[in-house]
Amino acid sequence: MMPSEKPIRQLALAARLLMLLAAVVGLAAAVLLSQLYGPASPAAPVAGANEATDGPPPPGSYHRPATPAPDTAAIPRTAAGRQIRYGRELVARTAAYLGPRGTVAHLSNGMNCQNCHLQAGTQGFANNYLAVAATYPKLRARSGTVEGIEKRVNDCLERSLNGRALPDSRREMRAIVAYINWLGQGIPKGKKVYGTGLTKLAYLPRAADPAIGRAVFASKCQSCHGPTGQGQPLADGHGYQYPPLWGPRSYNDGAGLFRVSNLAKYVKAAMPFGATFDQPQLTDAQAWDVAAFVNSQPRPHLRTPRDWPDISQKPVDYPFGPYADAFAERQHKYGPWQPIEAAHPAKAN
Ligand code: HEC
Ligand code: HEC
Repeated sequence: MMPSEKPIRQLALAARLLMLLAAVVGLAAAVLLSQLYGPASPAAPVAGANEATDGPPPPGSYHRPATPAPDTAAIPRTAAGRQIRYGRELVARTAAYLGPRGTVAHLSNGMNCQNCHLQAGTQGFANNYLAVAATYPKLRARSGTVEGIEKRVNDCLERSLNGRALPDSRREMRAIVAYINWLGQGIPKGKKVYGTGLTKLAYLPRAADPAIGRAVFASKCQSCHGPTGQGQPLADGHGYQYPPLWGPRSYNDGAGLFRVSNLAKYVKAAMPFGATFDQPQLTDAQAWDVAAFVNSQPRPHLRTPRDWPDISQKPVDYPFGPYADAFAERQHKYGPWQPIEAAHPAKAN
């Protein structure tokens, strides 16, 4: 062998090793991605509610609908179509049918599903419904059970609308489910849609601060939701022009929005009204602090003794103990959350 060949051989060996390493890393990534985004068998429940909020999907890995939601003009003029339209109407104007002065029943507070699920559940990252049909039934840690769409709708009726559940067979429940299924048509079972649910929001390095949030509320929210957060009822008595943010007519403390992170994520991408995921109007810190302020105010209490049968599954910002760690309730509610998350390396928020 010529003396100069040795370094070349070594280089070739190093290159081969590098290629091998790249192949291993690539394979691991492919396995991970296919587990996250790949087709799920129809029977398998899909775990985790915030999968689709993890930022833009890698190209080709998500099912990304060409249009954000199917066109309501395409709802057929059949009996099935009428049911879908009624479901959409119930989501958009819930109070008119099921509120305190509802024409069908009196089983919810005066709010509409649409107050939180903007544009009847079709606005991106504003509690969007597009992935519901494809991802339910799913195992939810809060109840410790596999929940169908009906159970999930009733969760919001009992908590977000501080009301009572609809029987699965009831005409109104069938209509809401038909609408949600219609929205999710064409999205393969188990696939996630970019823009579903809520946006992702990085934690602050400090606790979210209700005192700072009070000032954010005064400058950014009060003009619509009112100085005492009680909103502005519509003149016809059916619901609100501006819904209440706390007090007796607001969501109760068992609701999803009562977690400061969920409220901050919603507000970041949806409030003040007119803000969107692409054009937010608040800084992250303003969203966190105003959420802390709103959720520090009084609201109805719901007894939920059966929630979180496995307390180690509680999200880090779940505001009620007991916990599987030694952090105080106040830190769970307002943060800082990184130390809590660091103590539970296996669990995301
Ligand atoms: C006060 C706000 C609020 C109202 C009003 C509300 N919801 Fe929700 N809803 C939420 C939040 C927040 C979530 C997500 C919570 C979480 O993941 O913990 C959610 C989740 C859902 C989901 C599951 C979405 C998914 O992708 O997993 C469905 C379905 C749903 N709501 C239906 C309804 C219906 C139907 C109504 C009216 C009867 C309603 N909601 C009223 C706040 C609300
Ligand atoms: C320009 C008026 C306006 C401003 C300003 C505004 N909101 Fe809203 N907000 C609305 C309307 C309208 C809805 C209901 C949307 C619907 O039904 O389509 C709403 C809904 C909400 C909801 C969900 C329903 C509920 O009552 O719980 C929350 C939470 C919320 N707003 C928080 C805020 C916060 C926090 C701010 C300030 C950062 C804010 N909003 C600023 C008009 C406004």
